[in-house]
Amino acid sequence: MTAEDAKKQYYELLDKIIKRDGVKELAAYLERHGFFKAPASTKFHLCSEGGLLIHSVGVAKTALKIKPVLLPSYPDESVILCCLFHDAHKVTDGFGQVTYNKNNGATKDQQPYFWNKNQMAFSGAHKSLLLINKFVDLTREEMQAIAYHDGPYVPSFEDIKGNVYPLTHLIHFADLWSTWVDERGLGAGFDAQKFLDDKETLF
Ligand SMILES: [Fe+2]
Repeated sequence: MTAEDAKKQYYELLDKIIKRDGVKELAAYLERHGFFKAPASTKFHLCSEGGLLIHSVGVAKTALKIKPVLLPSYPDESVILCCLFHDAHKVTDGFGQVTYNKNNGATKDQQPYFWNKNQMAFSGAHKSLLLINKFVDLTREEMQAIAYHDGPYVPSFEDIKGNVYPLTHLIHFADLWSTWVDERGLGAGFDAQKFLDDKETLF
């Protein structure tokens, strides 16, 4: 998916939730602060301009694919809202600082972005929750899903262990799948035969 495709799909998804109070203002705020240009990481996944947009749309699409099977009665609106903005903290800290600074003049062997050390020191996922909640009155399920979307990969997951809402599992899984499977070209369209052929060569 190119950044242009992602932008088109982003607007289509946004359109489905735009009637919810505060969403329009939240989207405008993030756009003003660089949502369309931000990378998804410093050097890991989609670490290039527009990477965050591609990632956010990918997470929403993945979650909407599995939701009818696993969580059919849940509103699409909550899923789209949490997915599109779960990584809002990768745009800004909400206090005028961008999250990532470009490593200008970086060669292809150097990481393309650096973490901005001047931003508010705070857990990333919880920062997303603060940003979103400034504009949108969230349900408790949405709050937990945004704040704990990293799942058991972060120590804070201990806080909710034993009382994890289904939406949190769904958003976490969609994030994981998009990052480690789809963005690596291992998802839909993955060439299984090539993989098997490579395996035979390896062993
Ligand atoms: Fe993410």
